[in-house]
Amino acid sequence: MDQTDYPWDELRARAVEISVRAYVPYSRYPVGAAALVDDGRIVAGCNVENAGYGVTLCAECGLISDLVAGGGGRLLAFVCVNRDADLIMPCGRCRQLLWEHGGASLQMWTPEGIRTMDQVLPQAFGPDDLEQVRPRSGRP
Ligand code: THU
Repeated sequence: MDQTDYPWDELRARAVEISVRAYVPYSRYPVGAAALVDDGRIVAGCNVENAGYGVTLCAECGLISDLVAGGGGRLLAFVCVNRDADLIMPCGRCRQLLWEHGGASLQMWTPEGIRTMDQVLPQAFGPDDLEQVRPRSGRP
């Protein structure tokens, strides 16, 4: 599938749809996220807050769980919205989550247009870094 063929409007609609299910008694800031997987699935998630504020699950956490529990795959295109259906940027932690499953070329619809993951998370730490450590000499 060519990048220009990605179903951006459908992804945004799915993100808006799931944002209505968000559990946000503390911030009152619902978020919905949706992404296209390389097998054609669309995965999605909403934020789920907690009385222990720091334990809150961002919408992207639910999306990644949906991806993995549904059989895995690589993310190709991603959209995230607030309650007004405005596009928003994933927080820093969630950019790292997305990097793991989409890599540098993941396309993101941002408030400034379509951007790639490596544009919004430059010089990311990722799975490749774990492979590039020189073996230690001698015993482990
Ligand atoms: N939030 C997300 O769900 N994703 C993001 O990338 C940004 C922030 C949620 C977390 C919290 O429930 C609310 O937005 C306000 O920070």
